[in-house]
Amino acid sequence: MSDQPILILGGTAEAARLAARLVAQGYRVISSLAGRTRNPQSPDGEVRVGGFGGARGLTGYIARENVALLIDATHPFATQISDNALVAVASTQVPFVRLERPAWHKRPGDRWTSVTSMEEAVSAIPARARVLLALGRQHIAPFSRRGDVHFVVRMIDPPETPLDLIDFELELSKPGNVEEETDFLTMKRLTHIVCRNSGGSASYAKIKAARDLGLPVIMIDRPHRPLTHTLPDVESVGQFVSDTLGSFRT
Ligand SMILES: NC(=O)c1ccc[n+]([C@@H]2O[C@H](COP(=O)([O-])OP(=O)(O)OC[C@H]3O[C@@H](n4cnc5c(N)ncnc54)[C@H](OP(=O)(O)O)[C@@H]3O)[C@@H](O)[C@H]2O)c1
Repeated sequence: MSDQPILILGGTAEAARLAARLVAQGYRVISSLAGRTRNPQSPDGEVRVGGFGGARGLTGYIARENVALLIDATHPFATQISDNALVAVASTQVPFVRLERPAWHKRPGDRWTSVTSMEEAVSAIPARARVLLALGRQHIAPFSRRGDVHFVVRMIDPPETPLDLIDFELELSKPGNVEEETDFLTMKRLTHIVCRNSGGSASYAKIKAARDLGLPVIMIDRPHRPLTHTLPDVESVGQFVSDTLGSFRT
């Protein structure tokens, strides 16, 4: 096996699945995590945690570690680290691919209002709505100006600082299956959902439940990204790695 590692910029479920697959195939893999999540599940292979210090830091890391291939498997809304990756690729010429799960697409029965920013999402909520805010804690602040709306904020970890909302309740739980999401939306008498178009199956159940219940969803579109070599799933990235680094396999 070659000693040159594959570097995966991670922090997503598919990044962890990809690491497991590549380790099982005999590659040396380093997964990089930003260090935002408490008690993250550690991916297979080697793991490093924390920022690199911008594009320059990432470039230096790739050169120092003699990285054979860089995979950007970060979240569709994490744009800074992806921009840094492209700068580092341009200067190191390391082979590169981005793993990005496809966005959700509107289906018959969906009542989506598509917006392009948090601010637009805040403005799109009608007065007196009861809204599931399915967003990370760092995105809650803009909604504080809507004192005329009742928010149900769902998070996995409790927030470190009190939420800056006027009328809200905090729900500490993970997204459930369609039946659980339907019960949750009904029990809380929710009239709207605000969420980002993250894609993937883990948090799609609430979208399906909203469709079944006829609830409007204020859907925050993905940010625009520079065109780059992108594959949609772990399997196709695994194939790309074999094609690119075939000779490194055990
Ligand atoms: N944004 C989301 O909604 C979301 C959701 C689920 C998971 N995540 C994961 O959480 C991480 C942070 O997301 P974000 O939106 O804060 O990203 P971001 O805005 O693109 O990144 C901000 C800074 O965090 C550091 N960073 C981000 N991802 C990193 C990684 N995988 N390894 C090492 N450093 C990393 C980098 O610091 P330096 O410039 O110092 O290198 C980067 O410049 C990402 O890895 C992402 O995959 C994000």
